[in-house]
Amino acid sequence: MRAVVVGGAGFLGGAIAEELLRRGDSVVVFDELVSTERCAAVFGPGAVEIAAADMLDAAALSDAFSGADEVYHLAGILGTSELEERVQDAIISNIAGAVGVFEAAIECRVPRVFFPAKPNVWRNTYTITKYAAEQFAQMYAATGQVAIPTLRYFNGYGPRQCLGPVRKLVPTFVAQALSGLPLTVYGDGQQTVDMIYSRDLARHTVDFTRSGYIGEPVDLGRGVEMSVLDVASAVNRVVGSDAGIVHLPMRRGETPSTHLVADNRPLERLLGPLHFTDFTTSLEETVVWYARLPRDDIRGAVEALEAA
Ligand SMILES: NC(=O)c1ccc[n+]([C@@H]2O[C@H](COP(=O)([O-])OP(=O)(O)OC[C@H]3O[C@@H](n4cnc5c(N)ncnc54)[C@H](O)[C@@H]3O)[C@@H](O)[C@H]2O)c1
Repeated sequence: MRAVVVGGAGFLGGAIAEELLRRGDSVVVFDELVSTERCAAVFGPGAVEIAAADMLDAAALSDAFSGADEVYHLAGILGTSELEERVQDAIISNIAGAVGVFEAAIECRVPRVFFPAKPNVWRNTYTITKYAAEQFAQMYAATGQVAIPTLRYFNGYGPRQCLGPVRKLVPTFVAQALSGLPLTVYGDGQQTVDMIYSRDLARHTVDFTRSGYIGEPVDLGRGVEMSVLDVASAVNRVVGSDAGIVHLPMRRGETPSTHLVADNRPLERLLGPLHFTDFTTSLEETVVWYARLPRDDIRGAVEALEAA
């Protein structure tokens, strides 16, 4: 099987590329921020083909997609308050980028494109652009020219998730804990999240994409509701930090008291029982990965968080 991972140099695209390689597939990493050295470090020397290009470049997409059996579209820009000043960028990347990928797949007769959506709970730039792309996915899929199986991912975490500039829960908490600082929690911390390990997410994504599913988007989380305070305590415990937490006012773009948990039943009806790595074990693996980063990277991330 030949698969192209658009955004394959990123956090989840990288996890999916690894999963595909584990299954013996041939993988093309298509990303605007990709290099031979970085791919060699992550996947092994020569393990993947590289297409270093912008997904807005239709000719580059056609080149990469020709002869592909599958495309995984993991490129885009993320953020809540971070995208307040970048509405146009988000529209271009998350909507126009996705439409370009769907059209190139149709032109190149790629039978299926995986698309990652998200829970549509907040009215912010990120959610609006992802929801628009999700709707375009349904529209193109309805033509019958391409299948676009879509999962609504909940809160991914794991090795290689960026420390910044977008503030994500686990990288932020781990960087603070490794620096001996209290973890900064927005609001009262009772809002909930559904944390899913990137390796589990990648495995279920590939199974789902290959299941032949055609239809409405379905959820993928661990199906376990955790408060942000629970996540913070787990990070402090795993890192061994006794610096505790501090509360910050709720940031713009997020609604207080949100309760997030995936309904995995539709996916389980399709794939059978879903198995997940134990939360503490996966958090330990994640912390080990961050702890191996150069200290300057952690220090820089913490300084950027403090300045934001
Ligand atoms: N991380 C999560 O928990 C989560 C949850 C729900 C949905 N998603 C979706 O999954 C996808 C991947 O998220 P991630 O966390 O891996 O993000 P990421 O920022 O780590 O990776 C995105 C990748 O896309 C690439 N990219 C961006 N614009 C590009 C362009 N114009 N051309 C080529 N490459 C480009 C970037 O270089 C980067 O490597 C996104 O679409 C995101 O909305 C993620």
